[in-house]
Amino acid sequence: MPLPSAKIQVYAYAGVALLFLAVTIGAFTRAYGAGMGCGPDWPTCNGEIVPLTANTATLLEYFHRVAAGLGFVLITYTAYLSLKASGDRGVKLWATATIIALVTQIILGAVVVWYHLNPPLSALHTTLAIVTVALATGMAVKLSHTRVRG
Ligand code: HEM
Repeated sequence: MPLPSAKIQVYAYAGVALLFLAVTIGAFTRAYGAGMGCGPDWPTCNGEIVPLTANTATLLEYFHRVAAGLGFVLITYTAYLSLKASGDRGVKLWATATIIALVTQIILGAVVVWYHLNPPLSALHTTLAIVTVALATGMAVKLSHTRVRG
């Protein structure tokens, strides 16, 4: 069955762009030693949903999380539509693998701060970032080669 709308391709690439932004801000977070900018708190940032009294370190870590969160929303919606509406086995495989990697990465991000930037965990977070972005890009490319409706 064709997917519901060509918009799904836009959602997929926008999700990839947001993950790329999360990776970029993550790199700055690491480079500026701002990994504990939100303290050991997750999902809150220094105990707040939106940190109102923020310094540079807090802003870097906070916007890293915001970009990851927005990317998560778009990628999850794209994967949901793909699983629901596509009869293409390849699309379903890319969508499932992407969601597993992204959810694991977000949980790992939380574990990294709970364990105060433990080096092996932090290195794993960087490694999984490459895998996650690669899978999300693969899903977007696969979707752009799949027949869609609308
Ligand atoms: C809300 C969930 C997330 C949290 C709480 C989180 C947390 C962190 C923290 C604390 C750092 C700094 C690590 C350090 O200084 O050692 C970091 C870096 C980084 N994060 Fe995340 N992260 C999250 C989601 C993501 C996602 C979804 C991606 C990519 C798909 C990502 C990619 C990266 C990258 C590439 C770095 C830079 C690592 C480096 O340059 O060494 N993060 N993250």
